[in-house]
Amino acid sequence: MACIESRVLGKRVLEPDAVVLTLESTGCAAPAPFQFCMLSVPDDGDFPFMPRPFSVYDAGERSMDFLIKVVGRGSARLADLELGDEVQLSGPLGRGVGELPAGARPIGAAGGVGSAPFLLYYRRLVGAAPRAGAPRPLFLLGARTREFLYDLELFQDLPVEVRVATEDGSCGKKGLVTDLLRAALEEGPAEVLACGPDPMLAAVARLSAARSARCLISLETHMACGYGVCNGCAVKVKDERYREGFRYDRCCTEGPVFDAADLVLDGAPAGA
Ligand SMILES: Cc1cc2nc3c(=O)[nH]c(=O)nc-3n(C[C@H](O)[C@H](O)[C@H](O)COP(=O)(O)OP(=O)(O)OC[C@H]3O[C@@H](n4cnc5c(N)ncnc54)[C@H](O)[C@@H]3O)c2cc1C
Ligand code: FES
Repeated sequence: MACIESRVLGKRVLEPDAVVLTLESTGCAAPAPFQFCMLSVPDDGDFPFMPRPFSVYDAGERSMDFLIKVVGRGSARLADLELGDEVQLSGPLGRGVGELPAGARPIGAAGGVGSAPFLLYYRRLVGAAPRAGAPRPLFLLGARTREFLYDLELFQDLPVEVRVATEDGSCGKKGLVTDLLRAALEEGPAEVLACGPDPMLAAVARLSAARSARCLISLETHMACGYGVCNGCAVKVKDERYREGFRYDRCCTEGPVFDAADLVLDGAPAGA
């Protein structure tokens, strides 16, 4: 992992509440899909800025893009950055996803900004080396309304089939991304990879298990250090060697992608 003083090379505003920042990443290893970086801005005495984790959205030779949705003060400070501003960047971190499933149709399922890690995933794994005879990957994207389907056109330009759901019906099918998944799982053998809010991930895991489809989920657990030293990102992983039936893994180092069958989800928030 590299820890560098980076700067903003590019910025795209995605109304109403997100930006894509292009950050210099000279000295960092090439990121694997679903890896993330910890980002922070220099302390200005306003409030102590703990680094925040963001998935690598896209990557160039010396830069990485991040899709940042504003939810609180940290993401707002990052979204306010302008060209040339300094950013501390550590990464890439976590275990990425290195290959497409063989045989079964790969289904990606994302809720809202959970789409972020899928752009690099599809660019690297599908765009670069389409496998002869392999089923066409399917990407399911859900959001509250059309405006929260960030960069939908970029995903539609990928060599994947994209199906969309919005809760108000302003784009695609009216409903939830899990409605799309339920229907897609009936079409044949599939392997699911999902990222989004915890209740969505719990529902995706349940639907996949009911259809005996392998399901990987990428958790967005709160993190402090991002590289395995603070134990602030613990998630429960089933383990019969322990009396309680589970152990704790660190989302930042053993994850963020886990096999849903290994996690204690209980229908509750996946990181709980
Ligand atoms: C591996 C990983 C990858 C991520 N990738 C992205 C990404 O590509 N784009 C993106 O916009 N966000 C991503 N996130 C989430 C992002 O890290 C948080 O939104 C950010 O840290 C919030 O910081 P804040 O200071 O703005 O909000 P805070 O002030 O810390 O919190 C504001 C509100 O958001 C909630 N919140 C904060 N962090 C999270 C979280 N991780 N999950 C759910 N709720 C949270 C808080 O409970 C609170 O209600 C990712 C998280 C992880 C762990
Ligand atoms: S965030 Fe510190 S151990 Fe994972």
